[in-house]
Amino acid sequence: MKKSTAIPLSYLSATQPFQRPSIMGNQDYEIRKHGTSVGSPEIHLSSRLQVTGEAEYADDTPMPSNGLHAALVLSRKPHAKILSIDDSEAKSSPGFAGIFLAKDVPGDNHIGPITHDEELFATQYVTCVGQVIGVVVADTHENAKLAAAKVVIDYEELPAILSIQEAVDAKSFHPNSEKCLKKGDVDLCFQSGQCDKIIDGEVHVGGQEHFYLEPQSSLVWTMDSGSEVHMISSTQAPQKHQKYVAEVLGLPMSKVVCKTKRIGGGFGGKETRSAFIAAAASVPSYLLNRSVKLTLDRDVDMMITGQRHTFLGKYKVGFTKEGRLLALDLEIYNNAGNSLDLSLSVLERAMFHSDNVYEIPNIRIRGRVCFTNFPSHTAFRGFGGPQGMLIAENWIQKIAVELNKNPEEIREINFQGEGSILHYSQQLQYCTLGQLWNELKLSSDLLRAREDAKQFNLQNRWKKRGVAMVPTKFGISFTTKFMNQAGALVHVYTDGTVLVTHGGVEMGQGLHTKVAQVAASAFNIPLSSVFISETSTDKVPNTSPTAASASSDLYGAAVLDACEQIKARMEPVALKHNFSSFAELAGACYMQRIDLSAHGFYITPDIGFDWTTCKGNPFNYYTYGAAFAEVEIDTLTGDFHTRTANIILDLGYSINPAIDVGQIEGAFIQGLGWVAMEELKWGDAAHKWIPPGCLYTSGPGSYKIPSMNDVPFKFSVSLLKGHPNVKAIHSSKAVGEPPFFLASAVFFAIKDAIIAARAEVGHHEWFPLSNPATPERIRMACLDEFSSRFIDSDFRPKLSV
Ligand code: MTE
Ligand code: HPA
Ligand code: MOS
Repeated sequence: MKKSTAIPLSYLSATQPFQRPSIMGNQDYEIRKHGTSVGSPEIHLSSRLQVTGEAEYADDTPMPSNGLHAALVLSRKPHAKILSIDDSEAKSSPGFAGIFLAKDVPGDNHIGPITHDEELFATQYVTCVGQVIGVVVADTHENAKLAAAKVVIDYEELPAILSIQEAVDAKSFHPNSEKCLKKGDVDLCFQSGQCDKIIDGEVHVGGQEHFYLEPQSSLVWTMDSGSEVHMISSTQAPQKHQKYVAEVLGLPMSKVVCKTKRIGGGFGGKETRSAFIAAAASVPSYLLNRSVKLTLDRDVDMMITGQRHTFLGKYKVGFTKEGRLLALDLEIYNNAGNSLDLSLSVLERAMFHSDNVYEIPNIRIRGRVCFTNFPSHTAFRGFGGPQGMLIAENWIQKIAVELNKNPEEIREINFQGEGSILHYSQQLQYCTLGQLWNELKLSSDLLRAREDAKQFNLQNRWKKRGVAMVPTKFGISFTTKFMNQAGALVHVYTDGTVLVTHGGVEMGQGLHTKVAQVAASAFNIPLSSVFISETSTDKVPNTSPTAASASSDLYGAAVLDACEQIKARMEPVALKHNFSSFAELAGACYMQRIDLSAHGFYITPDIGFDWTTCKGNPFNYYTYGAAFAEVEIDTLTGDFHTRTANIILDLGYSINPAIDVGQIEGAFIQGLGWVAMEELKWGDAAHKWIPPGCLYTSGPGSYKIPSMNDVPFKFSVSLLKGHPNVKAIHSSKAVGEPPFFLASAVFFAIKDAIIAARAEVGHHEWFPLSNPATPERIRMACLDEFSSRFIDSDFRPKLSV
């Protein structure tokens, strides 16, 4: 018998097939009921309609028989002069009904949510692929697309800026977008010799497509020969649609109405980048006096409506040999694309969150908004916060490697706490970070998990496990002060049922359910007696977009205000009689000519930040959380899966813990997509095979979002108990965005596993890992005898940033 070469037992890990266990979920919360409904884990009020497919979205609205479908004529060049537009072929296309360009816009062709730096239809120049040049209408959606594709545009191509670095090199920044925040004296600290170590580095933060299930859609129609314009839009900001359409058509806002019943997800992608869709559809609708529907196909939606900003962070950080932070000098840049949109606010929120939860005595953060030749990037769950925090956790991780400690040790010794004064002068109050961190550490048995992973890694050469625990703090309020206002309209009917309308949009987050619970408890009636039908600019005017996670705080309080007014009017009647039901009381009030309808209003008190003095309180309060994750990677394929994720969040006394847990699970999985799966590939210097400025990953075939198979095998969520929030309605806290960043625990657990893989071949030095940690990046980072022939230990696979 031939003697075989012995294969180490640990090498069998290369061949062991992956087996997926069934998923175990765990949800732990206390119920703090207040009245009939607040605090109760009610199911989402439209969930039944949604699972049966009966719930209606913008595109489901029936069209009148003469209604038209629209398609956009889009730029194919990232930067060019428009030489000519030939629409002759389009005009003879089947079902064609009209083409409209800049010259046809009846009102103002300039649009934009803050600065009017965009054109509804491009006039002379295009500054990104996918910029709107015109709109074509036809009898069907397919015919409209066909005709739009036949419009021939002649361009004179101009040089394009296709990455943050190119923008920095060319000093291509949006005007007045330079921001700085400071505390202490960074330069003095670096020079003083107090720092045992000073390190520097660069973090490249990848983007993310919103991938709401319902693409952008608007249906616009006119009344009385165009003297009124109405629309149904899939948007987080009906008021912006009303305003854009009024301006583009040259009509007063009082003659334009936008309604939104619900949207199939927004995630920030419909805060501003939905409005130009409505405005584009309104032009043919108004000029032809016909209904026009514009619903984007998925690929077009992905190509033209913008994504989460990519960021570039350059840091220098000084610390003691114990790992105590002394000074941080940070420059951050975001890739705004070809218009300002919300990018300055996104940058500001990133700057506010660049400390994550760490005490840094000396800090200087400088930020810039880069103009690039891409579609305008925009709000996305976390609004720059996650990008700022991911940069922070990157240097924390690097400090840990430098000092040969676990990152959790570095994190803990630098935690902020009660009374901490942040780099923008806000002071922490009611800080629960320490409590929830300790609880999670105990329940996840971090030290044991680390030891188990170590043992596993000793026995498996080609599979590695890693663990990580990451904290977060998310500031609640729009950082633009005036936006923190909310209106509501409450009607009590004579049968005792209540119709609530408020300025917020239901996008799946359960806002209407929570707000209805507030009204039910206010009137002491069952939740089934309260209904919220839709959001409409003619019922509640001048509303902010539904965003910044604060909607249940804002609209809950506005609705409560309206309910209290009605209750006060009812009280004299209620006191006179012992009514057997709310319906009887309402009927009696009606007979006594009491107004059973009220407008409610709320503004967040005591907030405001002044960028000239860099002082103030941008936030009403903070939502704190932490997550533990354990992952396993296949070092030969780069595949990974999350074995465990444990999340804890402080949500005060939750208005609806069932919905809040759903928000946490959803945000975490969406965050998992951002940190480990979803990669946008653009035609840039790194991807020469894609036409310049074009998005290659324009659909689910090339862009991988998380699915059921990516849910952690053990997935548990708990809400911190016994900490009411004095700053918001019914002692609750905002939930929508804060848990998103916690998925970075998976990212750092992946990095921890890669560290174990590299240690086997004697590599202990720090190495870069950018998000998303896709199989390609994980594989290449696991230096071994195969990959080290081609790459250095600090190899960075290309990434569109
Ligand atoms: N949840 C669902 N199901 N769908 C969404 O589009 N958007 C998120 C979050 N949760 C979103 C969601 C974002 S980006 C924000 S800012 C908040 O919900 C907005 O709603 P809220 O203010 O009611 O929390
Ligand atoms: N968050 C979300 N959307 C916003 C904000 C914010 O802080 N500011 C302006 N729009
Ligand atoms: Mo959320 S990004 O504030 O819509």
